[in-house]
Amino acid sequence: MQITLELQRYNPEVDDAPHWETFQLEAEPMDRVLDLLHKVKWEVDGTLAFRRSCGHGICGSCAMMINGKNRLACKTLVQDLKSDTITIEPIRGLPVEKDMVVDLDPFFKAYREVKPYFINEDPPPERERLQSPEERAIFDDSTKCILCAACTTSCPVFWVNGSYLGPSAVVQAHRFIFDSRDQGNAARYQALSGGGGIWRCRTAYNCTEACPREIPVTQLIEEVKRAIMFSYM
Ligand code: SF4
Ligand code: F3S
Repeated sequence: MQITLELQRYNPEVDDAPHWETFQLEAEPMDRVLDLLHKVKWEVDGTLAFRRSCGHGICGSCAMMINGKNRLACKTLVQDLKSDTITIEPIRGLPVEKDMVVDLDPFFKAYREVKPYFINEDPPPERERLQSPEERAIFDDSTKCILCAACTTSCPVFWVNGSYLGPSAVVQAHRFIFDSRDQGNAARYQALSGGGGIWRCRTAYNCTEACPREIPVTQLIEEVKRAIMFSYM
């Protein structure tokens, strides 16, 4: 089948503003959008810039806005899009470095603020710190995050206020807040309760729709909000 691929291009070193470029490609329905980008880069225009690594939906590098929705280019098949025109833009709300490559520093700054690591000052036991399967199940969804940024960059609150930590940071906080062995919640609640914290969420649900790992992001945000409220009661 013939595909019209419309790419938003921007090189801040030479361009005043982003512009669109169109490529006509022969593609198979089972081709991934990432395959189309490779075809352009390797056969037509080597200056095209985009991130990718594993190619199998695990590393989270290739989040882009594809036909108006944040998706992973490596997990999106041509046939999924039900259109012979495919538009690709960088994810929104972060500075564009070149074409589909955005500056992820603000995203990872928010990630670090919620202390996304295990905190427990008790002396370690002789063997592992035990946890029941039921206790582990409580935070199972949040362990699936691959830090692709598709959720945070689909959030309208993040678009208008870049100081909002964003849904991905809350998912990371959820991973440890609900871990029965962890003791670091006071510091996490403080980070989440500040001006750019969790209370900025307006339950828009874009984050849940964007997540390629099918994490119920908005539900996890609500669980963290309730945990913070109960901690003050
Ligand atoms: Fe990506 Fe989902 Fe994690 Fe957000 S919650 S960063 S969309 S994997
Ligand atoms: Fe944004 Fe998701 Fe809340 S899209 S407003 S973080 S529910």
